[in-house]
Amino acid sequence: MNKLAVLTSGGDAPGMNAAVRAAVRAGIYYNYEVYGVKRGFEGLINGDLEKLNASSVADIIHKGGTFLKTARSQAFMTPEGRKKAVDMLTSMDIRAVIVIGGDGSFRGAEALSREGIQTIGIPATIDNDLAYTDFTIGFDTAVNTVLQAVTNIRDTSSSHEKTTIIEVMGRNCGDLALYAGAAGGAESIIVPEKPFTIKEIGEKIRRGRSRGKLHHILMLAEGAGSAVDIQRKLESETGEKSRITVLGFIQRGGDPTASDRLLASRMGLKAVEACKNGTDSSLIGIRNNDLTITKIDEALSYKKRDDGELTRLTEILST
Ligand code: F6P
Repeated sequence: MNKLAVLTSGGDAPGMNAAVRAAVRAGIYYNYEVYGVKRGFEGLINGDLEKLNASSVADIIHKGGTFLKTARSQAFMTPEGRKKAVDMLTSMDIRAVIVIGGDGSFRGAEALSREGIQTIGIPATIDNDLAYTDFTIGFDTAVNTVLQAVTNIRDTSSSHEKTTIIEVMGRNCGDLALYAGAAGGAESIIVPEKPFTIKEIGEKIRRGRSRGKLHHILMLAEGAGSAVDIQRKLESETGEKSRITVLGFIQRGGDPTASDRLLASRMGLKAVEACKNGTDSSLIGIRNNDLTITKIDEALSYKKRDDGELTRLTEILST
């Protein structure tokens, strides 16, 4: 019987459990013996693997986090660490690994594939920062989590007639700020992909005030600058006090949305089918709602481009 291992790696994302469930059940459907690896690549190095059956992944499709646990493995980045991992897989006669994670995890996946292990990646990160795919698992849930926070903050921001800077995660990608900001009607959105000036934001705040607008929600992607620094400059530009809310790790947890559960389930099945078909090591993605399979090095060479539509929408609609 062929053997397959599945692991989750890097920052967790809602929907990882649904992806593991799909990979395990699809693997069993296609007659694989499926192993769950604990704590990502660390588990491969330490031999922390357990055989899973259909019941091992019961009752997890709706849960945030990852029951396999996750880690950012430094050891796997070294040749010695990788050798240990490959030796472990070879000794157990496991020839295929499904890696569920983001950019860093896929660099690990690429390294593993260079050692002759068939490696298929499933994108799961709240950052949505992988250019080869339209969406990553966990992004939709995180957008909704941020949106709920924006809605709550808008109430108090209006009552107190204050500008509030809401800092969101995303690393060097502004998608989380952009999507949640556009959906939440934020007045300003600052993302790393687009230059901004304090003067133009100050101007927007003043224009709003002159129309009797009570609040100003400024969404700030963490990769675009320091909230404290922007607050200081904005206060000196407008002469008004403002507040900062850093949403932090609440963005990484929570029950996955229907959209993330479906995406994870579709990608999990597709990943197993790629293993079964003997596909070269690749990453599963989604473009225009169709699943895609792209060789790892090619997928990682894509540059993310923002067509500017949501930024333009915010500029026109959030006056
Ligand atoms: O990649 C997911 C993410 O949550 C980023 O948005 C954030 O910058 C980072 O992970 C935080 O990483 P850590 O969990 O190592 O603090």
